[in-house]
Amino acid sequence: MAGESPPPIGPLESQATTSDGADAAPFERFSRRVLIRNIVSRPEGGVVLAGQKVTVGGWVKTGREQGRGSFAFLELNDGSCPANLQVIVDASVAPLQQLVSTGTCVLVEGELKKPPEGTKQSVELRVEKVLEVGPVDPVKYPLPKTRLTLEFLRDHVHMRPRTNTISAVARIRNALAYATHTFFQKNRFLYVQTPIITTSDCEGAGEMFQVTTLFSDAEKVEKELKQNPPPSEAEIEAAKLLIKEKGEVVKNLKSAKANKEELNGPLSELAKAKENLSRLEERSKLKPGIPQKDGQVDYSQDFFARQAFLTVSGQLQVETYACGLSSVYTFGPTFRAEHSHTSRHLAEFWMVEPEIAFADLEDDMNCAEAYVKFLCQWLLDNCLDDMEFMVKNFDKTAIDRLKLVSSTPFMRISYSKAVQLLKNVKDKKFENEVEWGMDLASEHERYLTEVIYKKPVIVYNYPKEIKAFYMRLNDDSQTVAAMDVLVPKVGELIGGSQREERYDVIVKRILEMGLPLEPYEWYLDLRRYGTVKHCGFGLGFERMVLFATGIDNIRDVVPFPRYPGRADL
Ligand code: 4AD
Ligand code: MG
Repeated sequence: MAGESPPPIGPLESQATTSDGADAAPFERFSRRVLIRNIVSRPEGGVVLAGQKVTVGGWVKTGREQGRGSFAFLELNDGSCPANLQVIVDASVAPLQQLVSTGTCVLVEGELKKPPEGTKQSVELRVEKVLEVGPVDPVKYPLPKTRLTLEFLRDHVHMRPRTNTISAVARIRNALAYATHTFFQKNRFLYVQTPIITTSDCEGAGEMFQVTTLFSDAEKVEKELKQNPPPSEAEIEAAKLLIKEKGEVVKNLKSAKANKEELNGPLSELAKAKENLSRLEERSKLKPGIPQKDGQVDYSQDFFARQAFLTVSGQLQVETYACGLSSVYTFGPTFRAEHSHTSRHLAEFWMVEPEIAFADLEDDMNCAEAYVKFLCQWLLDNCLDDMEFMVKNFDKTAIDRLKLVSSTPFMRISYSKAVQLLKNVKDKKFENEVEWGMDLASEHERYLTEVIYKKPVIVYNYPKEIKAFYMRLNDDSQTVAAMDVLVPKVGELIGGSQREERYDVIVKRILEMGLPLEPYEWYLDLRRYGTVKHCGFGLGFERMVLFATGIDNIRDVVPFPRYPGRADL
């Protein structure tokens, strides 16, 4: 458990003992220093390391000169944990002024010491040598020491990893990714990398970003034509004439039985003339603008010789592996060109998508519940210090929420029951009135999980009209075997379903939804040949980070947020 002993960071070989067998601060295998975490996050706060010589690096959080400039205190952080190491530098060791500005990077060597009684830290570093300095001009440093809002930091995405909040979020995000692979690997799922560029619209919602080189190609042509106007008819005619003339010369020489040497010059002139003509003809074919055919864009001239997009989900492709390798999962970026300016939507987000063969909707719900519980327990076991930071600064209930979710069975109700419950709500007026057949809005989802049940809720069996074509039609012919996992703070965290494995039924569904069959032929093959009952789901990775940290806006839990109007770096 966290709190008892921090898990070792880095390879085991870097763990070390001193000559008398006592613990030593482990030296990093690839960066010639000790991580600050391995000093200050020890159960006793690092006090047993007093007397040891170490090298540490990091960025100064706060620095101040003391004793009339005779020494300086630096609070140093290297991103390995939320806590800082207090570092003391004497003026005789290095000029102090260049070390104390917030943001300065230092690599220092010194001895760990027990500080005087009554100070809050258990150990501090007395510097003997300053090995390296990455200085900062305090007047120009873009992150002033005042408490910065997350909105302000969004305008400095390249600098925000230096802040306590964004670095804590980054460590939590990293832990969730590690936990994800651990959970699926432990349960014998195979990790499959699905494509980012795709020609199929998985959700059929038409929210895809197009991938095309037609525009950049057209721009290149336009630039080229501006610099070098296309040849005129007369120029081409003249070039043809020249070939004829040069040809005549060669012909005459040949009939006069000229030798090889005499022919060399005229032959190469003829070749040059031919080359010139073909260049002119090539250039005369250059047309400005996007290529068209029958009044429509001619995608056969695009990079992939057809329309292509960024994927909205790896599901359809990962199904091809599930229908051959059984349990699989994909974990990668997905893209949606939705114009939603909410605190829960990104244009580029990461999704974890398991797909299980020989499994039905109940197995799907069991897997989703076990996975979310595993993630919560993992953070409690491995990220308690960062979670405590979140509790102190963002959400008092963040740790309690993880404990609750990791230990309580999720509520499971049908869509019809959910609608009935929401219709009976008297103490709140929803912006959208609830009717059977409608898609539940975020306000309804959050009411179910936050107010009615106060824990995660899985809603299943949705009306077929509001769900994707691939979901399995239930016997009532009205609903499909879909399920959404709703959690407090976020609303929808997971969307999944049992897949329609019956060929005739899925063909009918595709047509019913007004989708073309042709692009899905390969998907239909999975039903034509050796079809299998299977299911899967997608967990929005950023939504999981939101849920864990208690941060309000999804733009602050992804390293490089992309949303309408914004794609920095
Ligand atoms: O419910 P969705 O659309 O499901 C699918 O894409 C399925 N193909 C998944 C599957 O069965 N393999 O999306 C899954 C999850 C949502 O529950 C939500 O958490 C997240 O992805 N999500 C978004 N997260 C951030 N920004 C957006 N624009 C999101 N859209 C969906
Ligand atoms: Mg959904």
